[in-house]
Amino acid sequence: MNSGNMQDFFKGKTVLVTGATGFLAKVFVEKILRIQPEIQKLYLLLRASNSDMAAHRLQNEVFEIDLFRVLRAELSEDFNSFISKKVVAIAGDVAIENLGIKDEKLKNEILEEIDVLVHSAASTKFDDRFDILMGVNTKGALHALNFAKNCQKLKAFVHISTAYVCGNAKYEDGIVREKAFEMGQSLKKTSNLDIHTEMKLLDNKIAELQAMNADENTMKFALKDYGMERLVKLFFYLEWLSGYISKIYFL
Ligand SMILES: NC(=O)c1ccc[n+]([C@@H]2O[C@H](COP(=O)([O-])OP(=O)(O)OC[C@H]3O[C@@H](n4cnc5c(N)ncnc54)[C@H](OP(=O)(O)O)[C@@H]3O)[C@@H](O)[C@H]2O)c1
Repeated sequence: MNSGNMQDFFKGKTVLVTGATGFLAKVFVEKILRIQPEIQKLYLLLRASNSDMAAHRLQNEVFEIDLFRVLRAELSEDFNSFISKKVVAIAGDVAIENLGIKDEKLKNEILEEIDVLVHSAASTKFDDRFDILMGVNTKGALHALNFAKNCQKLKAFVHISTAYVCGNAKYEDGIVREKAFEMGQSLKKTSNLDIHTEMKLLDNKIAELQAMNADENTMKFALKDYGMERLVKLFFYLEWLSGYISKIYFL
């Protein structure tokens, strides 16, 4: 799709974006509101205890920042009313089923209305606790996919991957072609990822730490170390780093 078609596509559409306070999601939201003001509605999901707190975070961490200066200048005093007409703040947590949306009525409204789901929420601290990373980045993606499957008129589900999937792909012609991944395929062809095994190993590790009466701090460091151990075991780490370096080089 060229950018003209993309702009037309979003006219009259309703979109749910997760991770709305994140770097990529903010850029997406700003661009959509600027190039397609006739978008029907943007549901923006972010971590907060309730919808008022979600709206508060959105205002402070998204719409007040410099990124929105162009739109703010274009709309002048209509900026705030335009945002409140188009945007709905949703309190949620992608680590929980149904994206942690507690309000049933609102959840059903979203399931009925959205045309596009952009899943951008993630933990980008790649040395975080293994249980947090698994909850947000792995189960979060599954929760978003399950949510998408229950939508009544969804046209596109966009998952922005946390995994560095490019690896050592060849750049000779400047193009890295997208290919569908097989279940369990890892960047190194020499290792396979079985997510059920990983989840079981994690549960066992947590049970082992609990049996030792580990305090919160010990848990935190032990689970960070364990995440690294699994990463190295699956050869992701070295591959990820080498892929990252080649990416910086080519940028
Ligand atoms: N930035 C890039 O150049 C780039 C390039 C390629 C791929 N990606 C991928 O794109 C995705 C987004 O990247 P980013 O740079 O925008 O990351 P980011 O700035 O760290 O934003 C992540 C967002 O996810 C939210 N989040 C974390 N845990 C959550 C949870 N349990 N429930 C709901 N929201 C949660 C965070 O909310 P809080 O504010 O509450 O923490 C934050 O808004 C990641 O998967 C990243 O790996 C990024």
